[in-house]
Amino acid sequence: MNLTLRIWRQKNAQSEGALVEYEARDVSSDMSFLEVLDMVNENLIAAGQEPIAFDSDCREGICGTCGLVINGVAHGGLRGTTVCQLHMRHFKDGDEITVEPWRARAFPLLKDLIVDRSALDRIIQAGGFISVNTGGAPDGNAIPVPKVDSDRAMDAAACIGCGACVAACKNASAMLFVSAKVSHLNLLPQGKPEKNRRVLNMVKAMDAQGFGNCTVLGSCEAVCPKEISLDFIAKMNRDYGSAILKGR
Ligand code: SF4
Ligand code: FES
Repeated sequence: MNLTLRIWRQKNAQSEGALVEYEARDVSSDMSFLEVLDMVNENLIAAGQEPIAFDSDCREGICGTCGLVINGVAHGGLRGTTVCQLHMRHFKDGDEITVEPWRARAFPLLKDLIVDRSALDRIIQAGGFISVNTGGAPDGNAIPVPKVDSDRAMDAAACIGCGACVAACKNASAMLFVSAKVSHLNLLPQGKPEKNRRVLNMVKAMDAQGFGNCTVLGSCEAVCPKEISLDFIAKMNRDYGSAILKGR
């Protein structure tokens, strides 16, 4: 198929950006969306022009590095799918496709389709860990974990930190991401000793990074490639309220 791509080009944070039109010809339905960008870039390089800057790493939907807004929807709108796993069979010949970066105050643009998502790393630094002394490997069954808790913790741990939830939210809220990271550890026995401190510190870090407030619109859940549930936001709010009442 032949496609028309309108791609956001911007030299750096200081310069003005604009949508620039490119033709992608002979696109196979088996290609991923990022492979189409690779193809466009090969043609740009062959013509002596600057390739389009975009992020990717694993291209298997597990690292959270890729992230594009395609036709106005973070990750392109295919339920539970990252843009690196979005294949061209979901498009048709002659389609006109607009490609833009994540847009949020806390994610300053670096170049073209790449934004700085280190604000999410700073939230993790504030509490996304457990403190244990290392030593010999403990027996795997030494700490019993209720199945229902381990399943929920695993659901929360599926968050890959892509930031699509922020990009999709009109408040640019990071609550879905933060609630997944808080809940993943707070649900498990190993995370309980630092439970209160974790939720308070991570929410404080989230606010300090300039993310907006959650007004429960649900657009985050709709675009999340790991289908993280809004229930985790409710759980984090309960953990937060309890930590405040306990005064720590
Ligand atoms: S909650 Fe979902 S959309 Fe948000 S960072 Fe995690 S995986 Fe990405
Ligand atoms: S490149 Fe790793 S999730 Fe897309």
